[in-house]
Amino acid sequence: MDLSIKERLDNSKLPRHVAIIMDGNGRWAARHGSARIFGHEHGIEAVRSVIEGAGEVGIGYLTLYAFSTENWSRPREEVDGLMSLLVYAIDSETVNLMKNNVRLGVIGDMKMLPRRVREKLESCIEKLKDNTGLTVILAISYSAKWEITEAVKKMVSDATRERIDPSQITNELFESYLSTKGIPDPELLIRTSGEYRLSNFLLWQIAYAELYFTDILWPDFRKEDLFEALLNFQNRERRFGMTSEQIAG
Ligand code: IPE
Ligand code: IPE
Ligand code: MG
Repeated sequence: MDLSIKERLDNSKLPRHVAIIMDGNGRWAARHGSARIFGHEHGIEAVRSVIEGAGEVGIGYLTLYAFSTENWSRPREEVDGLMSLLVYAIDSETVNLMKNNVRLGVIGDMKMLPRRVREKLESCIEKLKDNTGLTVILAISYSAKWEITEAVKKMVSDATRERIDPSQITNELFESYLSTKGIPDPELLIRTSGEYRLSNFLLWQIAYAELYFTDILWPDFRKEDLFEALLNFQNRERRFGMTSEQIAG
């Protein structure tokens, strides 16, 4: 009997944190002869399925790149549509997230968001805060260079006030200034839609992540595709600069 992809996964070798660049909504819409926003709407089904799948296999953290700092430069109509969709999606999905024991977090420049979006996010985070399952982190109005610049600003300000000593700055101290403070680095980064770039996503945190690219457009991506990526991840040798023999030994 053939085992499903999910059954072939080794539960002892799962990444604790998976990050996804959800790309290809616009192209999906074009293929269906529709406006871009139609692709974004259908992207919600993919988000739902992936959250469910991540919970089923026991992933700890799932970070979803939903809107980048650079995306503010898109046509006004699309940006407005995406903001409304965000509010709608949070409203319609909260019950489901609660049922799945999901906690919610957000990273990004919240000051840039319309108030209704910010408030909706805050209230959803509050409602789900005592859940103990998968933590979903939405990256909204996020870019890695923004995040790193903010961290440097805060650090320099703390150094000026003598709250930290510049000679004591370490990798770990720097991480405590990032918006992902306390969250383990993603071991697996997935990007859909056949684009091979990072688009300013989590640059510091993915220093040693395994990268997985698929041609599937985001609205077509489902939990089975996530399991496929996880299986692929499990077949890689993560050497961290060492030799294969050292890893085997
Ligand atoms: C990803 O899909 C969603 C966002 C960036 C908000 P795109 O809208 O980038 O879709 P493509 O890349 O144009 O197909
Ligand atoms: C990256 O996708 C951002 C998100 C998925 C939210 P883009 O479609 O904006 O990235 P580029 O423009 O192809 O680099
Ligand atoms: Mg894109």
